[in-house]
Amino acid sequence: MSSTDRGAGPKRLVVLISGSGTNLQTLIDATRQGSINGRIVAVISNKPGVRGLERAQSADIPALTVDHRDFQRREDFDAALAEQIESHRADLVILAGFMRILTPGFVNRFAGRMMNIHPSLLPRYPGLDTHRRAIDAGDREAGATVHFVTEELDGGPAIVQARVPIHPDDTPATLAARVLEKEHLIYPYAVKLFCEGRLGLTGQGATLDGTLLPRTGLAYLDP
Ligand code: GAR
Repeated sequence: MSSTDRGAGPKRLVVLISGSGTNLQTLIDATRQGSINGRIVAVISNKPGVRGLERAQSADIPALTVDHRDFQRREDFDAALAEQIESHRADLVILAGFMRILTPGFVNRFAGRMMNIHPSLLPRYPGLDTHRRAIDAGDREAGATVHFVTEELDGGPAIVQARVPIHPDDTPATLAARVLEKEHLIYPYAVKLFCEGRLGLTGQGATLDGTLLPRTGLAYLDP
Protein backbone atom coordinates (compact mmCIF):
# COMPACT_ATOMS: atom_id res chain seq x y z
CA MET A 1 0.00 0.00 0.00
CA SER A 2 1.46 3.37 -0.95
CA SER A 3 1.40 6.37 1.35
CA THR A 4 -1.41 7.87 -0.70
CA ASP A 5 -3.54 4.72 -0.74
CA ARG A 6 -4.97 4.04 2.64
CA GLY A 7 -8.38 2.93 1.53
CA ALA A 8 -11.75 4.62 1.90
CA GLY A 9 -11.57 5.48 5.60
CA PRO A 10 -11.25 9.04 6.88
CA LYS A 11 -8.21 10.80 5.43
CA ARG A 12 -5.43 11.91 7.73
CA LEU A 13 -4.98 15.67 7.44
CA VAL A 14 -1.98 17.70 8.59
CA VAL A 15 -2.45 21.48 8.60
CA LEU A 16 0.51 23.87 8.40
CA ILE A 17 0.02 27.38 9.77
CA SER A 18 1.98 30.52 10.67
CA GLY A 19 -0.62 32.68 12.37
CA SER A 20 -4.19 33.20 13.46
CA GLY A 21 -5.59 30.05 11.90
CA THR A 22 -9.12 31.11 10.99
CA ASN A 23 -8.97 28.80 7.96
CA LEU A 24 -7.74 26.05 10.25
CA GLN A 25 -10.77 26.70 12.47
CA THR A 26 -13.21 26.17 9.59
CA LEU A 27 -11.46 22.87 8.82
CA ILE A 28 -11.62 21.82 12.47
CA ASP A 29 -15.33 22.64 12.49
CA ALA A 30 -16.05 20.84 9.20
CA THR A 31 -14.20 17.67 10.22
CA ARG A 32 -15.95 17.71 13.58
CA GLN A 33 -19.37 18.12 11.98
CA GLY A 34 -18.61 15.22 9.67
CA SER A 35 -18.97 17.21 6.47
CA ILE A 36 -15.39 16.23 5.58
CA ASN A 37 -14.44 12.55 5.58
CA GLY A 38 -11.14 13.32 7.27
CA ARG A 39 -9.48 13.90 10.59
CA ILE A 40 -6.89 16.57 11.42
CA VAL A 41 -4.13 14.51 13.01
CA ALA A 42 -1.67 17.37 13.59
CA VAL A 43 -1.28 21.12 13.25
CA ILE A 44 2.26 22.37 12.71
CA SER A 45 3.37 26.00 12.94
CA ASN A 46 6.71 27.46 11.93
CA LYS A 47 6.15 30.15 14.57
CA PRO A 48 5.74 29.47 18.28
CA GLY A 49 2.87 30.91 20.26
CA VAL A 50 0.48 31.72 17.43
CA ARG A 51 -3.29 31.70 17.84
CA GLY A 52 -3.73 28.79 15.44
CA LEU A 53 -1.82 26.50 17.82
CA GLU A 54 -4.26 27.42 20.58
CA ARG A 55 -7.16 26.58 18.29
CA ALA A 56 -5.68 23.12 17.71
CA GLN A 57 -5.08 22.57 21.42
CA SER A 58 -8.65 23.62 22.22
CA ALA A 59 -9.84 20.97 19.77
CA ASP A 60 -7.53 18.31 21.28
CA ILE A 61 -5.45 18.13 18.13
CA PRO A 62 -1.67 17.67 18.51
CA ALA A 63 -0.14 21.13 17.99
CA LEU A 64 3.56 21.29 17.16
CA THR A 65 6.07 23.98 16.32
CA VAL A 66 8.94 23.49 13.90
CA ASP A 67 10.57 26.90 14.24
CA HIS A 68 12.29 27.90 11.00
CA ARG A 69 14.71 30.06 13.01
CA ASP A 70 16.24 26.91 14.48
CA PHE A 71 17.57 25.94 11.04
CA GLN A 72 20.30 27.63 9.05
CA ARG A 73 19.34 26.10 5.74
CA ARG A 74 15.88 26.02 4.20
CA GLU A 75 16.49 22.36 3.21
CA ASP A 76 17.06 21.41 6.85
CA PHE A 77 13.88 23.12 8.00
CA ASP A 78 11.92 21.39 5.23
CA ALA A 79 13.45 18.02 6.14
CA ALA A 80 12.39 18.43 9.79
CA LEU A 81 8.92 19.50 8.70
CA ALA A 82 8.58 16.55 6.30
CA GLU A 83 9.65 14.17 9.04
CA GLN A 84 6.88 15.44 11.32
CA ILE A 85 4.31 15.22 8.55
CA GLU A 86 5.33 11.67 7.64
CA SER A 87 5.34 10.61 11.28
CA HIS A 88 1.66 11.56 11.35
CA ARG A 89 1.07 9.53 8.16
CA ALA A 90 -0.61 12.42 6.37
CA ASP A 91 -2.80 11.72 3.35
CA LEU A 92 -3.14 15.45 2.70
CA VAL A 93 -0.99 18.42 3.71
CA ILE A 94 -3.01 21.62 3.99
CA LEU A 95 -1.23 24.98 3.94
CA ALA A 96 -3.50 27.41 5.78
CA GLY A 97 -1.77 30.75 6.10
CA PHE A 98 1.63 29.04 6.09
CA MET A 99 4.04 31.82 5.19
CA ARG A 100 7.23 29.94 4.28
CA ILE A 101 8.44 29.17 0.79
CA LEU A 102 9.02 25.42 0.46
CA THR A 103 11.91 23.79 -1.38
CA PRO A 104 11.29 21.79 -4.57
CA GLY A 105 12.33 18.60 -2.78
CA PHE A 106 9.62 19.11 -0.17
CA VAL A 107 6.99 20.09 -2.72
CA ASN A 108 7.69 17.07 -4.92
CA ARG A 109 7.59 14.70 -1.98
CA PHE A 110 3.97 15.72 -1.35
CA ALA A 111 2.93 16.25 -4.98
CA GLY A 112 -0.78 15.75 -5.51
CA ARG A 113 -1.44 15.64 -1.78
CA MET A 114 -0.61 19.18 -0.71
CA MET A 115 -2.86 22.20 -1.21
CA ASN A 116 -2.70 25.89 -0.38
CA ILE A 117 -5.13 28.77 -0.13
CA HIS A 118 -4.10 32.10 -1.58
CA PRO A 119 -5.97 35.41 -1.20
CA SER A 120 -6.22 36.39 -4.85
CA LEU A 121 -7.74 35.33 -8.13
CA LEU A 122 -4.71 33.36 -9.28
CA PRO A 123 -2.90 33.58 -11.63
CA ARG A 124 -3.21 37.26 -10.68
CA TYR A 125 -1.14 38.42 -7.71
CA PRO A 126 0.95 35.51 -6.51
CA GLY A 127 3.08 36.42 -3.50
CA LEU A 128 2.32 38.98 -0.81
CA ASP A 129 0.15 42.09 -0.39
CA THR A 130 -2.49 40.79 -2.79
CA HIS A 131 -5.34 43.05 -1.69
CA ARG A 132 -3.38 46.28 -1.97
CA ARG A 133 -2.16 45.25 -5.40
CA ALA A 134 -5.70 44.47 -6.61
CA ILE A 135 -7.01 47.83 -5.34
CA ASP A 136 -4.06 49.77 -6.80
CA ALA A 137 -4.58 48.10 -10.17
CA GLY A 138 -8.20 49.32 -10.23
CA ASP A 139 -9.59 45.77 -10.33
CA ARG A 140 -13.32 45.40 -9.86
CA GLU A 141 -13.04 41.92 -8.39
CA ALA A 142 -10.81 40.05 -5.99
CA GLY A 143 -11.05 36.62 -4.47
CA ALA A 144 -9.33 33.52 -3.21
CA THR A 145 -7.99 30.36 -4.79
CA VAL A 146 -7.33 26.86 -3.46
CA HIS A 147 -4.67 25.14 -5.53
CA PHE A 148 -2.36 22.15 -5.55
CA VAL A 149 1.14 23.12 -4.52
CA THR A 150 3.84 22.77 -7.15
CA GLU A 151 7.36 24.16 -7.40
CA GLU A 152 6.10 27.46 -8.81
CA LEU A 153 5.15 29.83 -5.97
CA ASP A 154 1.33 30.15 -5.87
CA GLY A 155 1.40 28.71 -9.38
CA GLY A 156 0.03 25.19 -9.00
CA PRO A 157 -3.20 24.10 -10.70
CA ALA A 158 -6.29 25.69 -9.20
CA ILE A 159 -8.99 23.56 -7.58
CA VAL A 160 -11.61 26.15 -6.64
CA GLN A 161 -11.85 29.91 -6.80
CA ALA A 162 -14.35 32.37 -5.26
CA ARG A 163 -14.82 35.99 -6.29
CA VAL A 164 -15.90 39.09 -4.39
CA PRO A 165 -16.51 42.65 -5.61
CA ILE A 166 -14.05 45.43 -4.83
CA HIS A 167 -15.89 48.52 -3.59
CA PRO A 168 -14.62 52.04 -4.35
CA ASP A 169 -13.99 52.77 -0.66
CA ASP A 170 -12.23 49.48 0.06
CA THR A 171 -8.96 49.40 1.95
CA PRO A 172 -6.74 46.31 1.93
CA ALA A 173 -8.20 45.45 5.34
CA THR A 174 -11.87 45.68 4.33
CA LEU A 175 -11.19 43.72 1.17
CA ALA A 176 -9.20 41.08 3.09
CA ALA A 177 -12.15 40.56 5.42
CA ARG A 178 -14.55 40.06 2.49
CA VAL A 179 -12.16 37.62 0.83
CA LEU A 180 -11.54 35.73 4.06
CA GLU A 181 -15.26 34.97 4.35
CA LYS A 182 -15.01 33.18 1.01
CA GLU A 183 -11.82 31.42 2.02
CA HIS A 184 -13.75 29.90 4.88
CA LEU A 185 -16.20 28.40 2.39
CA ILE A 186 -13.89 27.20 -0.34
CA TYR A 187 -11.17 25.56 1.75
CA PRO A 188 -13.46 23.09 3.51
CA TYR A 189 -15.12 22.44 0.15
CA ALA A 190 -11.81 21.61 -1.58
CA VAL A 191 -10.66 19.42 1.32
CA LYS A 192 -14.00 17.61 1.26
CA LEU A 193 -13.58 16.84 -2.45
CA PHE A 194 -10.06 15.54 -1.82
CA CYS A 195 -11.21 13.33 1.03
CA GLU A 196 -13.88 11.83 -1.21
CA GLY A 197 -11.12 10.85 -3.62
CA ARG A 198 -12.50 13.12 -6.34
CA LEU A 199 -9.47 15.36 -6.93
CA GLY A 200 -6.31 14.55 -8.82
CA LEU A 201 -3.19 16.25 -10.10
CA THR A 202 -1.93 15.40 -13.58
CA GLY A 203 0.70 16.90 -15.85
CA GLN A 204 -2.13 18.88 -17.49
CA GLY A 205 -3.65 20.29 -14.31
CA ALA A 206 -6.08 19.49 -11.51
CA THR A 207 -8.90 17.01 -12.16
CA LEU A 208 -12.32 16.48 -10.60
CA ASP A 209 -13.75 13.00 -11.08
CA GLY A 210 -11.10 12.44 -13.73
CA THR A 211 -12.04 15.52 -15.78
CA LEU A 212 -9.54 18.33 -16.20
CA LEU A 213 -10.58 21.52 -14.40
CA PRO A 214 -10.25 24.96 -15.99
CA ARG A 215 -7.06 26.85 -15.24
CA THR A 216 -8.84 28.90 -12.56
CA GLY A 217 -10.46 25.83 -10.97
CA LEU A 218 -14.12 25.36 -10.11
CA ALA A 219 -16.01 28.62 -9.83
CA TYR A 220 -17.44 28.60 -6.31
CA LEU A 221 -21.00 29.81 -6.06
CA ASP A 222 -22.56 30.37 -2.66
CA PRO A 223 -24.89 27.56 -1.65
C1 GAR B 1 -5.36 33.86 4.60
O1 GAR B 1 -5.93 35.02 4.05
C2 GAR B 1 -4.63 33.08 3.54
O2 GAR B 1 -5.24 33.13 2.28
C3 GAR B 1 -3.32 33.79 3.51
O3 GAR B 1 -3.02 34.06 4.86
C4 GAR B 1 -4.25 34.22 5.57
C5 GAR B 1 -4.22 33.30 6.78
O4 GAR B 1 -5.31 33.54 7.61
N1 GAR B 1 -2.30 33.01 2.89
C6 GAR B 1 -1.33 33.52 2.16
O5 GAR B 1 -1.19 34.71 1.96
C7 GAR B 1 -0.37 32.49 1.59
N2 GAR B 1 0.49 33.09 0.63
P1 GAR B 1 -5.68 32.51 8.76
O6 GAR B 1 -4.38 32.23 9.53
O7 GAR B 1 -6.66 33.25 9.61
O8 GAR B 1 -6.25 31.28 8.14
